[in-house]
Amino acid sequence: MFEQKKQVYIETYGCRMNVADSEVVLALLTNQGYEVTNRITEADIVLVNTCSVRENAERRVYGRLGAFKHLKKKKPEVIIGVLGCMAERLRTKLMGEKANGVGQIVDLIVGPDEYRKVPELVTKAWQGEKGIAVQLSRVETYDDITPLRTDGISAWISVMRGCDKFCTFCVVPFTRGRERSRSLESIVKEVAVLSSRGFKEVTLLGQNVNSYRDGEYDFADLLKAVAEIDRSIRVRFTTSHPQDMSDKLIETIATYPNLCKYIHLPVQSGSDRILELMNRTYDSAHYLLLVEKIRRAIPDVCLSTDIIVGFPTETEEDHERTLELMQEVQYDGAFMFKYSPREHTPAYKMHDGISDEVKTRRINEIIQLQNRISYKKNQQHVGETVQVLVEGESKKSSSEWHGRTDGNKTVIFPRRNFTIGDYINVTIQRANSATLFGMAEENIPKNVDVELPIEVAA
Ligand code: 5AD
Ligand code: SF4
Repeated sequence: MFEQKKQVYIETYGCRMNVADSEVVLALLTNQGYEVTNRITEADIVLVNTCSVRENAERRVYGRLGAFKHLKKKKPEVIIGVLGCMAERLRTKLMGEKANGVGQIVDLIVGPDEYRKVPELVTKAWQGEKGIAVQLSRVETYDDITPLRTDGISAWISVMRGCDKFCTFCVVPFTRGRERSRSLESIVKEVAVLSSRGFKEVTLLGQNVNSYRDGEYDFADLLKAVAEIDRSIRVRFTTSHPQDMSDKLIETIATYPNLCKYIHLPVQSGSDRILELMNRTYDSAHYLLLVEKIRRAIPDVCLSTDIIVGFPTETEEDHERTLELMQEVQYDGAFMFKYSPREHTPAYKMHDGISDEVKTRRINEIIQLQNRISYKKNQQHVGETVQVLVEGESKKSSSEWHGRTDGNKTVIFPRRNFTIGDYINVTIQRANSATLFGMAEENIPKNVDVELPIEVAA
């Protein structure tokens, strides 16, 4: 008799690495005959890929698991699995009685380096056996697994895993383990396949991509190799650590037109005292020099950053230094967070004496400053014609498309007869702090092959 294939549903929280990991897990399961569903009510397996970086992220997942309790009540045979950083960090706690009342419903717990075991653990769960796999690995990169990507034009490719930096506030080195890189060859092959499938943008992912290494190849070599595969594919990358940003890397980005002129360069704080306590291994002078060097080599570069307010012992003076640094750098965008103490990290033992009220005021101040800077920077684009990759329908209106510039700015423009994946020229007519709005000119022919300097093109 024809047997209906089992359906798997996955929800992903946290960073882009998790999105890429979920695609690996789905590949592993579909290779075993499972089918992916977007409807939780149809699912036989419900997976949640989790994040531990801040307490809020964990709270949201606990909330979701609470909701899954009702699901399990209605359909007791459904398998519920927790993947990712919370699985790694909370392990048995998540299956225990005390896990905010969700312990009884979780059937499997799988950390970021054990996804190969997911199909086996699911099978065992159906036989009534709960499973935990949370071993970290020094070598696992899932190099041989082609992630299950839904067709689109943008792909996320994880090129290295783990982090050896041990910033004192960060749980990642504990949940994702030591740094290791995929082979350059396998990444190049993956991008070639994506090119043949019509993808127009790839983002190379890692906790600290600058420390990518495959034998003699470093991250600059990888970027060069990827950029050369298909010059109509935009290449992005994230995240860079300011300590490891080499001159060679900056030159490479400057040289290849399809390497996007956008660098996410988390500074975390403008105060040298706090940077030291954070173990960031650079001071503000090093950071500012680096920014200057990048801007000299790539004049139209867009820069963004991560900033934490309220790190233990942060004074008003320290906070002022952060505001000053933001004024000086003039970031195009920033991701800003209140410090969240994470168990087992060195900062956890430092006295978190900054009240939530003070953290809230400080974060509001930096958000307001960044909004003013972003607004001013975006106004500078008004009247300019920028190249945009068409990405999809605008959220607000079906008669408009959205896309992004090379510098990662979102642009909204009338739909006309463009299709997703087109490169078009848009003349910017107005802007706010988050978005540019404009009118599109004619399509630039597809597969636009941007001219390379002679010595590189040869
Ligand atoms: N509290 C607040 N923000 C954090 N980040 C990492 N750990 C914490 C924490 N404990 C932020 C950093 C990092 C980004 C991914 O998340 O700014 O760059
Ligand atoms: Fe965390 Fe620092 Fe590593 Fe980034 S570089 S993942 S903030 S430890």
